[in-house]
Amino acid sequence: MPAIGLGTFGSDHVSNETVAEAVKSAIDIGYRHIDCASVYGNEAEIGAALRDVMDSGKVDRKELWITSKLWNDKHVEEDVVASCKQTLADLQLDYLDLYLVHWPFPNFHAKGCDVSSRSPDARPYIHENFMRTWRQMEKLVELGLARSIGTSNMTQAKLELVLRDAAIKPAVNEMELHPHFQQPELFDYVVSQGIQPVGFCPIGSPARPERDKTSEDTVDTEDPVLCEIAEKHGIHPATLCVKWAEQRGQIPIPFSTNPRNMRANLESLTTPKLSDSEMEALSKIDKNCRLIKGQVFLWKDGQTWEDLWDLDGKIAQ
Ligand SMILES: NC(=O)c1ccc[n+]([C@@H]2O[C@H](COP(=O)([O-])OP(=O)(O)OC[C@H]3O[C@@H](n4cnc5c(N)ncnc54)[C@H](OP(=O)(O)O)[C@@H]3O)[C@@H](O)[C@H]2O)c1
Repeated sequence: MPAIGLGTFGSDHVSNETVAEAVKSAIDIGYRHIDCASVYGNEAEIGAALRDVMDSGKVDRKELWITSKLWNDKHVEEDVVASCKQTLADLQLDYLDLYLVHWPFPNFHAKGCDVSSRSPDARPYIHENFMRTWRQMEKLVELGLARSIGTSNMTQAKLELVLRDAAIKPAVNEMELHPHFQQPELFDYVVSQGIQPVGFCPIGSPARPERDKTSEDTVDTEDPVLCEIAEKHGIHPATLCVKWAEQRGQIPIPFSTNPRNMRANLESLTTPKLSDSEMEALSKIDKNCRLIKGQVFLWKDGQTWEDLWDLDGKIAQ
């Protein structure tokens, strides 16, 4: 799996066409790993961009690593394979390198319901329901539609049960990881199980709209320790976040539409290493500041905040 990927969540301030152009620029610059998801609503545009670069002979399918994700309203057993096939059609690909369950929400929504609203069909997290979805994810590997499968936004308690019962263990857990949210325990657990951590929002998602933020959220790139170390290395604090991530052993997937920033992020992987004392100083700026809290997915009578992040320590089997 390439050591850095390009994120493709344009939120609502970057058009699908701009994200597709960013994918083309990234591949020109040397990126070979693109992190997609059906819910980003831009897989058709990204698919056209991928087709263009492959048709131009710049890159071959085998050189690319394409990830996509199953959205929350497609956990019903018969929807999993169909949803992956739709993503493949949109991306104009025969297979994905990695397909993730985007969030642990085995809610069995009514077909077509809006997953961001409070749905009466929502159910609390139940491990066996997740496994019903996971067995369909395993089927994607058997069918050759996905080369590997993984999870995203999983906690240790949920992963322990999945590892106990899965025929194919998750290759990856994609999780929020940046200097102000380092998740040291989950990170160590995932690595100890041979699961590759992929870190989303590696720069602390500075452009995320205000409505997604709460008052405790902090901007990583304004951190004085980060700024001081970045200045010493002659790089932007954002680029230092990417360098720190890679050196720690997680795969960062920074989003950018600016070729200069994309290049700086990619090049940071080959510049001299951060010293042990710099890594130590960066480990101390963790503020346990989760940016992507999942609050838009919480339902009154269904899944709760505690349920999502296992705050009460209990998971229904
Ligand atoms: N699995 C999940 O549940 C999940 C959740 C959230 C996100 N993700 C994935 O993770 C990706 C990254 O997260 P994100 O997009 O929220 O945030 P992010 O990558 O932390 O931050 C992106 C922002 O950083 C800026 N940036 C990038 N490189 C820079 C540099 N070298 N110097 C200065 N600014 C720089 C970009 O601006 P410019 O465009 O100007 O460079 C952009 O505004 C997403 O796109 C998505 O693919 C997954």
